[in-house]
Amino acid sequence: MTPSELVKQLFLSFNNQDNEAFIQTAREYIEREKRKKHTIVAKELEKALYQSATVSSAQRRFKQSLPIPRDTEKGFPLLEIPHFEQNFDNLILSSDTKAQLERIIREFKDADILATYNLSYKKKILLCGKPGTGKTFSAQIISSVLNIPLVYIRFDAIISSYLGETAGNLRKVFDFIENGTWIVLFDEFDIIGKNRDDNHEHGEIKRVVNNFLQMLDNFKGDSILFAATNHQNILDSAIWRRFDAVIDYELPDEATRKQLFERYLRSIKRDKKINFSQAAQDSQGLSPADIKMITVEAMKTTIIDARNTLTMDDLERAIEQFIRREKVKYHRQGNE
Ligand SMILES: Nc1ncnc2c1ncn2[C@@H]1O[C@H](COP(=O)(O)OP(=O)(O)O)[C@@H](O)[C@H]1O
Ligand SMILES: [Mg+2]
Repeated sequence: MTPSELVKQLFLSFNNQDNEAFIQTAREYIEREKRKKHTIVAKELEKALYQSATVSSAQRRFKQSLPIPRDTEKGFPLLEIPHFEQNFDNLILSSDTKAQLERIIREFKDADILATYNLSYKKKILLCGKPGTGKTFSAQIISSVLNIPLVYIRFDAIISSYLGETAGNLRKVFDFIENGTWIVLFDEFDIIGKNRDDNHEHGEIKRVVNNFLQMLDNFKGDSILFAATNHQNILDSAIWRRFDAVIDYELPDEATRKQLFERYLRSIKRDKKINFSQAAQDSQGLSPADIKMITVEAMKTTIIDARNTLTMDDLERAIEQFIRREKVKYHRQGNE
């Protein structure tokens, strides 16, 4: 059916009060829009359709009608669809990194317009950087900002024990995501950096990575695919080339650390003498996740001491404690 025939069909079914036909035609129209890569329009139509009272909750769930794929051997789910309500302002990054993320959001929102020029939004994005710098968090926030569900895949879990099963598992994951519009995160994509010198597993792991990259190349869906890794230095150009963007997550500088302390201590009453600049100086080399943990400890001290204002002393003690703990960890692990 042409678009105008579809609309005519919609009107007719409305007149005939034929709910089934109405919904079916509406869905057909939405699918057309999706095929034309009018992702935002399709999303909005979907939202409008499912807000109407005539659509039952069973019908509403049709999008998730594909069952969550499971591991062939052990049967555990290969992906999760967690829900997030997060504001873009909660992400504190250097202006450069943040601008790159904003750009990804804008391109996706303008996917229709780009498509009319035969251009595509940035679809495959590699996030690199130390642990706790906000790679996973960024994908969660983008999912929340665009109001598109996140498909979360722990890459290491898929491949950990049964390397042989990996191709099958990956195929299942891709089949699932190609069937909808998602923000997809292949998290802990660290296998690409592991065991490079370990000859025993090396060939097998290389196959897994190549397999993944091939599926990435052939991916035709309307989603954004993120892969996140802590290993950045070992990425060879063969991998880089496959991605439309590579975003580097640096540890926060002093000004950014100050911002993080301020952000995370917003929810509690603070002593006037609190010195965030000092806290920022004392926390050199720490990640945003570390700083979050410190602020949580400091707030808890205030609360369990039954005081109503957090003091600089609470904060400094929490920082010292954290750094001591890190040192223990560092000694245990040797010089990692
Ligand atoms: N850049 C950031 N700005 C604000 N909070 C952050 C940032 N990075 C990390 N966090 C906090 O630390 C938590 C863990 O970070 P995460 O995104 O899992 O790090 P990564 O995936 O890079 O290891 C996040 O859920 C968030 O609360
Ligand atoms: Mg992570």
